[in-house]
Amino acid sequence: MTRDIIDSHAHLNDPAFSRDLPEVIARLQEAGVSAVINVGYDVRSSREAVAQAYNWPVLRAAVAVHPHEAATFNEESARVIRSLALDRRVVAIGETGLDYYRNLSPRRQQEEVFRWHLRLAKQLNLPVIIHDRDAHQDVLRILREEGRALRGVVMHCFSGSWEMARQCLDMGFYISLAGPVTFKNAVKVREIAARVPLDRLLVETDAPYLTPEPYRGQRNEPANVCLVVEGVAAARGVAVEEIIEATSNNARQLFRLD
Ligand code: NI
Repeated sequence: MTRDIIDSHAHLNDPAFSRDLPEVIARLQEAGVSAVINVGYDVRSSREAVAQAYNWPVLRAAVAVHPHEAATFNEESARVIRSLALDRRVVAIGETGLDYYRNLSPRRQQEEVFRWHLRLAKQLNLPVIIHDRDAHQDVLRILREEGRALRGVVMHCFSGSWEMARQCLDMGFYISLAGPVTFKNAVKVREIAARVPLDRLLVETDAPYLTPEPYRGQRNEPANVCLVVEGVAAARGVAVEEIIEATSNNARQLFRLD
């Protein structure tokens, strides 16, 4: 069976893949994954994402400094991220946003760096991939203030309530779902999976993190996006093909993959 699944968010630039990337790429192609957005989280990984997107045609890059690293963000990082973002293999700015769960950088700095990335995305007319952990209200407020004229917004690994999802949908954002949709206790995520309009839905792995069932606990990889698709299809009570077609069309349009 020919499949055409797009993993909207993975980190093959993570050191977890430094030893066996060719095998990981072979497995995702065997699984029917036709494109992976390889997402940067600091200057090094953003550079790596772009380099890998030249080595492997199935990969495209997103570049940014993650909120965890916001405290290290300086003029030099801004210069490098901006110049990487101009590369033709880069299809989005991300991941950027706020993380109040781990608070690895002071909140004020996270906000400043988040706003910088949103402005860059607007200038370059690129979509933006948002990381939001326990910071829903501030993320929405900042997107409301800065978000006008953004080409597209992806709420990556969406973890909010349906109420939050509805606010995002009202603002025209995409909701991207990951491995947790397969977790036994993730009732809330399955409710989101069942209710988000198909034309707003994306799927992702966030590899090497968030490994879906039944492989939870092992390193995650893009081939496992099939399990996410199955989880979403089960939550909606539809065929996997319907989810694949919709999410791939959405990703192709949003990231201009053709
Ligand atoms: Ni990520």
